[in-house]
Amino acid sequence: MQFTDLKAQYAALKPAIDARIQRVLDHGQYIMGPEIAELETALVAFTGSKHCITVASGTEALLIALMAIGIKPGDEVITSPFTFAATAEMIVLAGATPVFVDIEADTANIDATQIEAKITPRTKAIMPVSLYGQCADMDMIHAVAARHGLAVIEDAAQSFGATYKGRRSTALSTFGATSFFPSKPLGCYGDGGALFTDSDALAQAAREIRVHGQSARYRHTRVGVGGRLDTLQAAVLLGKLPRFEWELGRRHALGARYTRLLQDLPGLRTLSVRPDRDCVWGQYTVFIERGRDTVQAALKDRGIPTAVHYPLPLHRQPAYAAYCCSDCCPASIAAAAQVLSLPMSADLAEADQDRVASALRAALRA
Ligand SMILES: Cc1ncc(COP(=O)(O)O)c(C=O)c1O
Repeated sequence: MQFTDLKAQYAALKPAIDARIQRVLDHGQYIMGPEIAELETALVAFTGSKHCITVASGTEALLIALMAIGIKPGDEVITSPFTFAATAEMIVLAGATPVFVDIEADTANIDATQIEAKITPRTKAIMPVSLYGQCADMDMIHAVAARHGLAVIEDAAQSFGATYKGRRSTALSTFGATSFFPSKPLGCYGDGGALFTDSDALAQAAREIRVHGQSARYRHTRVGVGGRLDTLQAAVLLGKLPRFEWELGRRHALGARYTRLLQDLPGLRTLSVRPDRDCVWGQYTVFIERGRDTVQAALKDRGIPTAVHYPLPLHRQPAYAAYCCSDCCPASIAAAAQVLSLPMSADLAEADQDRVASALRAALRA
């Protein structure tokens, strides 16, 4: 069993993806070829956002968003400590200070009710993470941001395709930043990412920052990065897009099925999904209340791959410990000890899901 079954997906899409790649090899425009604009147009249509700026990775998307809104040394950016390191890492690389706000124990997303207490005159932005594929309480976050004149950058690396009150994740905030890392809901065959915004000025800034701050060839109007998406990766994504709605449907069905299979297991808690949004299950993650590592080892013995997203909250990681006291954010600390991500992808077979559920049942009884 695969943790993320990319081989089955490629087998289903091989003619389309191969033809798309071949077209790039034939025209030879590997950097900013025509597939980049074609993909950006398609993603604008899919998300409902006014602008899409494809970039080299989800990490780069976060950095470019922070640079575009003018984050500078001394600024503070509020985020969750229960996320992949890139979220806080880019805040620090942009010269700012990450300010950690704890998560909700049942969704593992930033607790929007705790944000306002952490705002200072130095706060410039809020960066909620749509963890595991579900948006945080974005309305409350935007209300707080509006009261204090802050930008909101949604780290939507795990939630591309999810909806919040009928609108797409990535199209909700000042910027939405996503990742096309191969195992993400929409993945390419290497690194990739994209930024979304409704602001013409911010879109222009992000487009310039993506190409070393150039507003025209060799005219560097600002400091930027080398942050372009490869044309070949855009071609892969264009080959995958026609199946993406079907894949989202599968993810929703498989997520709901996992939840049904697992909800009564003693010592296991499933993730809460709020009724006004959905989850695309970038990871299908459960909470094992005691003995998570033993349960993970028992699943491994039965040939079931799992992962821990994430074993330590960032404020307990050496690189970020200085930004917060180690006993802060108790819900994040508790989640890090309990979470376990199970095999998940649109091509996961129901029979394999059944195997995962019975292996979990046996491991939790042991
Ligand atoms: C929450 C979150 N933010 C940012 C990233 C970074 O994305 P990428 O790997 O495309 O740079 C990831 C990827 O794992 C992620 O899960």
